[in-house]
Amino acid sequence: MNGPGRILGIETSCDETAAAVVVEGNRVLSSVVSSQVDIHARYGGVVPEIAGRAHVDLLTPVVAEALVEAGLDARGADGDGAPGVAAVAATVGPGLIGSLLVGVSAAKSLALVWDVPFVAVNHLEAHLYGAFLEEPDLELPLVVLLVSGGHTLLVAMEDHGRYRLLGQTIDDAAGEAFDKVARFLGLGYPGGPAIDRQASDGRGDAIAFPRALSDEGLDFSFSGLKTAVITHVRKHPEVSIADVAASFQEAVVDVLVSKARRAATAVGARGLCLAGGVAANSVLRERILDACAADGLRAFVPSRSMCTDNAAMVAAAGWWRLRSDGPSPLDTGADPGLRLAGAR
Ligand code: KG4
Ligand code: ZN
Repeated sequence: MNGPGRILGIETSCDETAAAVVVEGNRVLSSVVSSQVDIHARYGGVVPEIAGRAHVDLLTPVVAEALVEAGLDARGADGDGAPGVAAVAATVGPGLIGSLLVGVSAAKSLALVWDVPFVAVNHLEAHLYGAFLEEPDLELPLVVLLVSGGHTLLVAMEDHGRYRLLGQTIDDAAGEAFDKVARFLGLGYPGGPAIDRQASDGRGDAIAFPRALSDEGLDFSFSGLKTAVITHVRKHPEVSIADVAASFQEAVVDVLVSKARRAATAVGARGLCLAGGVAANSVLRERILDACAADGLRAFVPSRSMCTDNAAMVAAAGWWRLRSDGPSPLDTGADPGLRLAGAR
């Protein structure tokens, strides 16, 4: 491999334009994230066409900044003509097609110009590697609770690149439920952090919202909970919004934590790991730590900035993929519905 395993990662699957340089899957030299939150906030959610155009505008300066911060020049070299970037990795899916294409095209172009491998990265796998970046000595097998705006998965990670899907949502993703409930409550976008903040002023036991499928298997369902919140607020317009936010959050966290615990026991995992944007939730983080302490499991709770979309996790996953599978063909396309390998 060219140079000391420095991978340039590029992430443009949704509304964060991000680039990072990471050495050998665990040392972050730079990680730049340009959020489009302000652009989409007035629409109450991500507008795909606007997201794609914003990536086009933002990606070149974001990549340039990531290279400069990592001590590399615009050619991806390290100044003295010594080898610089060893490979370029980009998220190829799942995500918004117009957004994915911007990052994938840029990554392939840079790989061609610099004559280094291109590595196609699955966004879900990248989230799993977010935890490895901060905890290089994670012990396998692990159960990962991957909760984001688009996905809610319980995954057994048996080895690098070897996953078993244990459970997933049958309707809304957990982050989607946070975003929809926040929009209904008039708390703005993105909804997760807004509910997290409101909830800190309310009581989680104020309203007994339903815990769907709580005794059935490891799948999740959140759309009934969203409807229950709407019905409750319409029936009780005087209700405290902070109590609604706290009680809704309590219901989501309750099912996430109890199923993650059950999954860890079922597969004999050594630890439980959080990943994805919803893993930035303060109550979820606290409860997972408590549950692991009670069950004698190691808890891996990445920093909040590593939970939400970033390119350091893409570069880390790219390094492992390159080691196991080699470079990806340049005709690898963006795939909005890409699944995690091993998913049922
Ligand atoms: O992983 P991510 O950045 O993007 C996707 O791949 O979807 O996750 C974004 C999701 C959004 O639904 C957002 O509302 C949620 O993560 N989120 C949170 C928190 N911070 C972000 N949900 C609950 N509590 C938070 N503190
Ligand atoms: Zn994500």
